[in-house]
Amino acid sequence: MSAHIIDGKAFAAKLREQVAAEVDLLKEETGRVPGLAVVLVGEDPASQVYVRNKGKATVEAGMESLEFRLPAETSETELIAKVEELNNDQNVHGILVQLPLPKHISEEAVIAAIHPDKDVDGFHVMNSGKLMTGQASLVPCTPQGCLLLLKDVLGGDLSGKHAVVLGRSNIVGKPMAMLLLAEHCTVTIAHSRTRDIAALVRQADILVAAVGRSELVKQSWVKPGAVVIDVGINRVVEGEKARLVGDVAFEEVAQVASAITPVPGGVGPMTIACLLRNTLTAFRASL
Ligand code: GUN
Repeated sequence: MSAHIIDGKAFAAKLREQVAAEVDLLKEETGRVPGLAVVLVGEDPASQVYVRNKGKATVEAGMESLEFRLPAETSETELIAKVEELNNDQNVHGILVQLPLPKHISEEAVIAAIHPDKDVDGFHVMNSGKLMTGQASLVPCTPQGCLLLLKDVLGGDLSGKHAVVLGRSNIVGKPMAMLLLAEHCTVTIAHSRTRDIAALVRQADILVAAVGRSELVKQSWVKPGAVVIDVGINRVVEGEKARLVGDVAFEEVAQVASAITPVPGGVGPMTIACLLRNTLTAFRASL
């Protein structure tokens, strides 16, 4: 058997078109467009690429993109002052502070400073608490994108399936588990201290891998017919060349899974599409 390769790039492109069409309509109705502010502190090369891509996608969706690049020495107080300025700016509907932040700045404190209504990352405790208690909220972009792909491939119904989430981060693992629970899955969160992780993963009908370990998940870990979503983006250097691999050994796992996301071109493009979706949601709620 060979798995269906889930085309996240095409799915994300469709989603972005839908968002852009909605932005157009609202612009005609209100004369206003959504504004997304992205704040980058320091010069982390990967973060610079992400921020550039986010800005480009925002403009392509017909939204206003505001980018703030602050030096690595920016203090926590200065960054929070910037966030507060954006909280009070009527033209800004979404605020994203790119993570990771330099070590001297508390990510928790900065996220807490973002107004929950503008928290398009869905990282504020108000939004994560709402997600946990089943209330409408801004949902973190990457797990939101994973869920859209899963619902598409499974015909909308995830009920009763055993979902194993590998990884327990606030950005992906924990919100992913909450979303799957809300879809009536039986959810297990596994992580670096989990015992006999291969045997546990082998029980999964749905596997979401988000641990940042190159090709950790082998064919023998995966139940035949499982749907595999690979969130990992790991850079591996082989001689002169670098390539991106996921947390799943793609070639071998694709032999047994029923569907699998590739890296790149799977989950990655969905994250930005969902960021635009959240910005649209925040804008609509502000009208
Ligand atoms: N760094 C890696 N992923 C993310 C994300 O989804 N949002 C933000 N703000 N920073 C990130």
